[in-house]
Amino acid sequence: MVHPSDIVIWIEQLHKIYKMGETEVHALRGVSLAVKHGEIVAIMGPSGSGKSTLMNILGCLDQPTWGQYTLDGEDVSQMSEDALAAVRNRRVGFVFQSFNLLPRTTALDNVLLPLVYAGVAPRERRRRAVAMLEAVGLGDRIHHMPNELSGGQQQRVAIARALVNEPAIIMADEPTGNLDSQSGKEVMEILQRLNRERGITVVLVTHDLRIGHHAQRVLHLFDGKLRREEMVEAPIQAVDTVLEAEEEPLP
Ligand SMILES: Nc1ncnc2c1ncn2[C@@H]1O[C@H](COP(=O)(O)OP(=O)(O)OP(=O)(O)O)[C@@H](O)[C@H]1O
Ligand SMILES: [Mg+2]
Repeated sequence: MVHPSDIVIWIEQLHKIYKMGETEVHALRGVSLAVKHGEIVAIMGPSGSGKSTLMNILGCLDQPTWGQYTLDGEDVSQMSEDALAAVRNRRVGFVFQSFNLLPRTTALDNVLLPLVYAGVAPRERRRRAVAMLEAVGLGDRIHHMPNELSGGQQQRVAIARALVNEPAIIMADEPTGNLDSQSGKEVMEILQRLNRERGITVVLVTHDLRIGHHAQRVLHLFDGKLRREEMVEAPIQAVDTVLEAEEEPLP
């Protein structure tokens, strides 16, 4: 029996219809889903099946046309845009396929930025940003610009940035989509460690079943509906990465 307080994401009969002039696209057609605190869930499905639409709603970047969404006990389906933005800033960290780091800005400053917006004092935000970069194995790269880092390292900076505000959930849309398989595994290993050591909930979208099998549960989306749920009995653990050798307790 799952206790309601164990649930962080609760959606019921979610629909999303995009209106474009005369035409309508029914992108989500009645999706219901519960995610527990501290779970890693992967969403898979063909192109156009509604994965990003669902992630945008789960991440409070967009709202459903109908249906209910409760995030950490708060009904966010009917909130005003301002209230939604506040929930998003407080509770959700985002990781994107294309990293979305600021160019000509060091790794450290990229990770600092959310703390500037959150009004954290300069010395404290530097301390937290450095600790977060160390936690993703980049303690020796903090003054590098994005173009001086490998793709996998850039994605780890993006993960540090997503986490520096201590959100409860990470939403990652194709976080390994632009990476070679080794870097992809390293990124998954980082997400698994953060999940294991800090209890961070991770929801990610992937096209790659080998990436999906790092999660505890895989949801298969087709045509805007959840068609199949797969429990992963023994999620893949990327034990052979460099990061494991360098493993230090997280700050
Ligand atoms: N802003 C939008 N306006 C209108 N239609 C949209 C919009 N965003 C997505 N759609 C449509 O909604 C459907 C679902 O799109 P979505 O981006 O969620 O798919 P996806 O599963 O993420 O695909 P991919 O794997 O290609 O990223 C598609 O038919 C798409 O064309
Ligand atoms: Mg998409």
